[in-house]
Amino acid sequence: MKQLITLDDLQDFDALIEEMVALKKQPFAHTALGRNKTLGVLFFNPSLRTRISTQKAAQNLGMHTIVMNFNNEGWALEFEDGVLMNGTTSEHIKEAAGVLSQYFDVLAVRAFASLEDKQKDRAEVVLRSFAKYASIPIINLESATAHPLQALADALTIKTFQKTARPKVVLSWAPHPKALPQAVANSFVRMMHRMDAEFVITHPEGYALDPEITKEATILYDQKQAFEGADFIYTKNWSSFEQYGQILRTDDIWKVSATKMKWTNNAYFMHCLPVRRNVVVDQDVLESPQALILEQANNRTFSAQAILKKFLDEA
Ligand code: CP
Repeated sequence: MKQLITLDDLQDFDALIEEMVALKKQPFAHTALGRNKTLGVLFFNPSLRTRISTQKAAQNLGMHTIVMNFNNEGWALEFEDGVLMNGTTSEHIKEAAGVLSQYFDVLAVRAFASLEDKQKDRAEVVLRSFAKYASIPIINLESATAHPLQALADALTIKTFQKTARPKVVLSWAPHPKALPQAVANSFVRMMHRMDAEFVITHPEGYALDPEITKEATILYDQKQAFEGADFIYTKNWSSFEQYGQILRTDDIWKVSATKMKWTNNAYFMHCLPVRRNVVVDQDVLESPQALILEQANNRTFSAQAILKKFLDEA
């Protein structure tokens, strides 16, 4: 494996889950593996969990890390090939990725969707250009369309807390005042396709995700029907994929509340964070014993560590 762009890059999903479980039990069992190796971490967008957990994962493996906020600290990058660079961009991705490959052993990159140009976002221009021109492995720390490390952490969370062999898991759209990307939801759907579960997506009309990703999923527009019998409620906002990047509704009818959680089979509540309290979900749900949000955040270390270990093992 040379890159982790989406979960489709992973061959043996079950083995990776087992690796995460093992690393969570013994985080420092492989400190010699990353000795004298360096992880580069580039952020084009803000982060709390990804920034810290990825560095912690590397340190657990004995690696050094260097973090750069590329938008503020780097040269403006050019991604077009053959272009006359007499405008605002100062450095071509071919040189930038080549240079970073001299300094690092693995490179991790966060570059969100623009939500303006659907075709460009779907092409994952930033992340795939790094993958194309770097000579070292690339890890996606949330790109335009995918957040695989979040989905792997969520898979570990569900595996840890599931009470039946085939739990019912519901991905429920929630309101949000800002237009957010579909990346987390896309990766959660991809991950659920690989797990043994009854999986349901519920969202208002107009909020269908990319049909190429959701093609195997059950989709309900009735949130109550979706919640009935659920063992896990995973809530997330995303902007419209059809009317790309648009917010189609601003009411709070789809917000998760304690009343709605009573429709479920005493379900656990999940969210990747950050979350807007009392907009996406009521705070009493976030503070209830059923909320797994901190467990999900903790598991981010072990999803990153499992992927880094895979790259180091294969080096
Ligand atoms: N869930 C997640 O990726 O959090 P950050 O954006 O804070 O990294």
